[in-house]
Amino acid sequence: MATDMKHYKSNSMLYLDGVSVSFDGFKALNSLSFVVEPGELRAIIGPNGAGKTTMMDIITGKTRPDSGDVFFNGVIDLTKKDEADIAQLGIGRKFQKPTVFESHTVWDNLELALDRKRTVFGTLFYQLSGEDRDRIEDILETVRLTARKDDFAANLSHGQKQWLEIGMLLAQDPKLLLVDEPVAGMTDAETAETAILLRKIAETRSVVVVEHDMGFIRDLGVKVTCLAEGSVLAEGSIDFVSNDPAVIENYLGR
Ligand SMILES: Nc1ncnc2c1ncn2[C@@H]1O[C@H](COP(=O)(O)OP(=O)(O)OP(=O)(O)O)[C@@H](O)[C@H]1O
Ligand SMILES: [Mg+2]
Repeated sequence: MATDMKHYKSNSMLYLDGVSVSFDGFKALNSLSFVVEPGELRAIIGPNGAGKTTMMDIITGKTRPDSGDVFFNGVIDLTKKDEADIAQLGIGRKFQKPTVFESHTVWDNLELALDRKRTVFGTLFYQLSGEDRDRIEDILETVRLTARKDDFAANLSHGQKQWLEIGMLLAQDPKLLLVDEPVAGMTDAETAETAILLRKIAETRSVVVVEHDMGFIRDLGVKVTCLAEGSVLAEGSIDFVSNDPAVIENYLGR
């Protein structure tokens, strides 16, 4: 296992090997290992408390592992970086609850999110370049909000707010996007759209998506990793994973 993992490391976007972390003696992650390729969309499933969100906390530097390796782009040791550095490296994270600016328009939310490192003077006298406009229009298209661009974010549906927040992350142009339970609370139509939208986003970057909605996971049509008790229980196609007796016993059959 360890030798195999090293082989994948140099060509990986995200590489976790033997990652463990305990909270008050409880092992939230227990020698977790998995690899995400550049341009891969990976689905992560598993029961409540399996360690899915903790895994994202480790990748983004919010939580330090007690042991194990976490590498980005094959060579960057994420366990040595803080949260701000990791965001700067190109890892974006979507939390469960949308955090858009409700009293701003959809367009302005995306404009605010554009990463352009302006000075105070630059901010006061800034004119949006044609290139920035094109990027915002592209993002609006991707997150299905072109028709809503002049509406206040407060007036969007819950699902549309989630899409806007994904759009705001795209404005930062991350190489790896982590998305935790994006379709919770969405309508069935929005859930189906979200699968299409994430597949499109993964054409130009890697995406790791955690979800409990198995219909959505099936729609994604990508490799699935099932976690339980802080480590990988099964990994493969949705059919392979959902027929695994341990996955049925620990998750699907519950
Ligand atoms: N900062 C923390 N301090 C103490 N315990 C924590 C902390 N973070 C996570 N845990 C515990 O670690 C375990 C794994 O939690 P985690 O949130 O990663 O699970 P999850 O797979 O995301 O579950 P869910 O599907 O419910 O979101 C849980 O028992 C949780 O209570
Ligand atoms: Mg979670």
